[in-house]
Amino acid sequence: MIGAAQGVRIGITGLGVHVPDRVVTNDELAGIVETTDEWIQERTGIRERRIAADDEALTDIALPAARAALGDAGVAASEIDLLVCATVTPDMMFPTSSALLAAELGMPRAAAYDLLAGCTGFVYAIAQAYGMLASGLSRRALVVGGDVLSKILDWEDRSTLVLFGDGAGAVVMEPVERGGFVGFELGADGAGGEFLWYPGSGSRHFDDPSSYVKMNGREVFKFATRVMVYSAHEILEECGKTVDDIDVYIPHQANKRIIDYAVAKLGIPSEKTVVNVDRYGNTSSGSIPLALADARDQGRLQDGVLVLMTGMGAGLTWGSALIEWTNGRH
Ligand code: ACO
Repeated sequence: MIGAAQGVRIGITGLGVHVPDRVVTNDELAGIVETTDEWIQERTGIRERRIAADDEALTDIALPAARAALGDAGVAASEIDLLVCATVTPDMMFPTSSALLAAELGMPRAAAYDLLAGCTGFVYAIAQAYGMLASGLSRRALVVGGDVLSKILDWEDRSTLVLFGDGAGAVVMEPVERGGFVGFELGADGAGGEFLWYPGSGSRHFDDPSSYVKMNGREVFKFATRVMVYSAHEILEECGKTVDDIDVYIPHQANKRIIDYAVAKLGIPSEKTVVNVDRYGNTSSGSIPLALADARDQGRLQDGVLVLMTGMGAGLTWGSALIEWTNGRH
């Protein structure tokens, strides 16, 4: 799916993030599986990640992020009529985490549903919310992206354990007078789904009873580098923009090598690129909002800057969103 945003101007008016307190370094992981800080840093750029406590589930880390986003927008929870939560690690399949969050936050009139699109979940969810808002079905939406992948990893598998971390972010989306979303490009290739999968998590029975994430790292690497470049080119062309128009580039934080490849191929200067995979690892649906928050904290999200976000992940899925950033509604 691809398209330039042509309806009502819709922007992001509030942003909030939250990560668990516990920092786990590469050296700590080296005490659990056979790996080294040097190997992890060299192959992934990751130095540490946050890991949820035993009693912390998705909504526990998503709730503070959601509250912070509402506060940032100056919006009361009761004014939200749509809550989309992108995650592959909901508290449980149902009730959905979005319904739990809506109840906890106090959103009696909100439609609430979870959205599954792997690490691309946040980009898919903002595209969904854009459609609902631009069509007039929704007036004000809260989009949450977050994951606690530590709960579904095999803590004996070094090839996946070292890559991921836990974290969440949320944005308030609503009509704005200037700027706002410029376009979206979303895609999926289920034929490659076997390269990053979570058997035993749904209604299909597999002979292998293990229900942990399994990954073919090399195939995912090839896929990721390809779609990061492809999706960016597609959306820029669709929206009549060029790489030079991009002020801030927010790639999914899966691996520094994947980001470096995309940046080099696209020709985006590294100073325009936001990287925090070193501190958080790959937080799946939390990754892009966490990077947006870093960009804002660094003063890079000024009024009018053009921001390109591109995600990719399980499904396999990918997606880009282009937005002209606005601080506030006016
Ligand atoms: N520590 C030490 N050695 C390791 C580790 C580890 N943590 N993990 C694997 N190795 C070993 C392998 O066993 C292999 O050993 P062998 O040669 O004796 O067989 C060797 O290191 C090289 O393994 P490769 O898989 O070839 O290493 P590669 O350079 O491809 O790096 C990596 C692996 C980092 C996983 C890379 O393939 C990658 O980043 N892939 C993309 C993964 C990813 O980003 N997934 C998530 C994206 S989608 C989403 O966000 C959900």
